Amino acid sequence: MISIWKKVVMGLTGLFLISFLVVHCGINSLIFLNDGGKTFEAAGHFMGTNPVIRIMEIGLVIGFLIHIIDGFVLWYQNTKARPQKYKAKGGSANSTWYSRSMGLLGTLLLLFLILHTADFWIPNRANQFTTGHELPLFERMKNIFSQPLWVVLYVLGCISLFWHLLHGFRSAFQSLGINHSKYNPIIKIAGTGFAIICPFVFAMMPITMFFGWIK
Ligand code: HEM
Repeated sequence: MISIWKKVVMGLTGLFLISFLVVHCGINSLIFLNDGGKTFEAAGHFMGTNPVIRIMEIGLVIGFLIHIIDGFVLWYQNTKARPQKYKAKGGSANSTWYSRSMGLLGTLLLLFLILHTADFWIPNRANQFTTGHELPLFERMKNIFSQPLWVVLYVLGCISLFWHLLHGFRSAFQSLGINHSKYNPIIKIAGTGFAIICPFVFAMMPITMFFGWIK
């Protein structure tokens, strides 16, 4: 497959995953209501049992897989095709370090995702499958985020997400051919804003729970 199509696929799956992050971050933010996780668990129950959402979840897993595999292939082809290029041009002169490090940042995010799905999603779905009941996710969050190491790992995951989104959001539009002097500044501002706000809100979840601000 030629590289331009790989980039289009990267852009499309990236935007799809961004829409997932908006929903995920929005639902999880319900913990900040500080009502003992009542509203959060009600929303989580709807998401975890609604048949339409269950089918969409299959799309989400496929979206993640395509984005990760395509990302690795692009990264491999780029490093193989021009190992000297950035050195020769001085690197930072024509691109930012995080745009050149999408492979590395993506890998850190992947490690975070493995840890994260092992913490919540896999045990919850396994429990639903075997007993028909969901796990108490709010209590689980409080338990997991009572461990300082886990809080640090989650905050590091959010920092990787920040760097990844900082380049990825803008780059998705470019890969889809949306590159116009009129819209580029709006995309840049929206992309930077989203890259800051979304990981920040996520990072506040383990932090506020660790310090007992959310009960
Ligand atoms: C840092 C704060 C975060 C918390 C407290 C959190 C919490 C949760 C919880 C409780 C679930 C389980 C939902 C269920 O079983 O129905 C979940 C699922 C998931 N989370 Fe997160 N999450 C966080 C950040 C992230 C980030 C940054 C990403 C992606 C980069 C992410 C990706 C996912 C995925 C892919 C799933 C499984 C998909 C699904 O539930 O359908 N999460 N998360």
